[in-house]
Amino acid sequence: MATTFLTTVQGQHQTLNNDGYDVIQGLTKKPKNLPPKYFYDHKGSQLFEQICELPEYYPTRTEASILRGCSDEIAQITGACELIELGSGSSTKTRLLLNAYQSRNSSCKYVPIDVSESILKESTLQLKEEYPDLQIKALVGTYEQALNQLKPTSLPARMIFFLGSSIGNFTPEEYDVFLNQITDVLAPGDYFLLGIDLQKPIEILEAAYNDSQGVTAAFNLNMLEHLNWRYKGNFDTSLFRHQAIYNQRENQIEMYLHCQKSHVVNLKSLDFKVTWEKGESILTEISRKFDLETVQKELDSKGLKTLKVFTDPQKWFGLILCQAAK
Ligand code: AVI
Repeated sequence: MATTFLTTVQGQHQTLNNDGYDVIQGLTKKPKNLPPKYFYDHKGSQLFEQICELPEYYPTRTEASILRGCSDEIAQITGACELIELGSGSSTKTRLLLNAYQSRNSSCKYVPIDVSESILKESTLQLKEEYPDLQIKALVGTYEQALNQLKPTSLPARMIFFLGSSIGNFTPEEYDVFLNQITDVLAPGDYFLLGIDLQKPIEILEAAYNDSQGVTAAFNLNMLEHLNWRYKGNFDTSLFRHQAIYNQRENQIEMYLHCQKSHVVNLKSLDFKVTWEKGESILTEISRKFDLETVQKELDSKGLKTLKVFTDPQKWFGLILCQAAK
């Protein structure tokens, strides 16, 4: 009989319902910025699901098509395995991997990790219906907190997977710290599967983040609504305009909200007022675009040896399966 747990990792509420210090810090800087974690309240998570379906937003469907072709091979390489997914969301692409393990009769246990409790609950219940024999242990929390709380596994190996190029939303420093955390958690011989969005012509990249239906704009502006409810703020989203540009020097998409009119915003529960000048911008997200060989070298320097690289015919997206040094 499969068991399902939904565990809130200790400290999670400290991180999300924190004292808002990161908001004050970001809005006091010049130029202003905000941490992308504030995208993901319930509405933001739903908007992100919609983004994944947009014709211009190629990463989700490209990664899914790669996974469709390589999941069997991954299951064959790892054998019976504990599957730990970081930022699992609705676990849509995960089903491709789960099916592969099930059809090989390789035992596996699924550990989805996400900061959004509502999305995690919903997807865990759905998965339980679809995979009645699958053992699922869902963890609500940040990657860092959840990775630190993992219990030893009874299965022969573990595979941590991080899909959707979410690693691209980390700054280079955060990326480095994150890879160190992964290597700390993996035992020799364990696996890491990483999905990365690859460098490509600027028109394709900018269209993906400035979609014609305005869903990405709504997602970006929702961050201000989120701050309004979380910190009793009075942001007027009609005073801001979304724009995403590709910074070719840094190889990253940068998402901005541009202020259209000078005004003051009060975030009451933070006891913090912020002044906006007309034309001022706020950086809400970076989305780095990678080079496959460079990432493999970086993984290698952390003791994560590439076993196999999977990509699509246009080389728009890559999946790197690596193994912790034995
Ligand atoms: C979650 N992350 C990988 C997305 C990305 O493409 O960087 C977030 C996103 N922002 C705008 N559209 C999608």
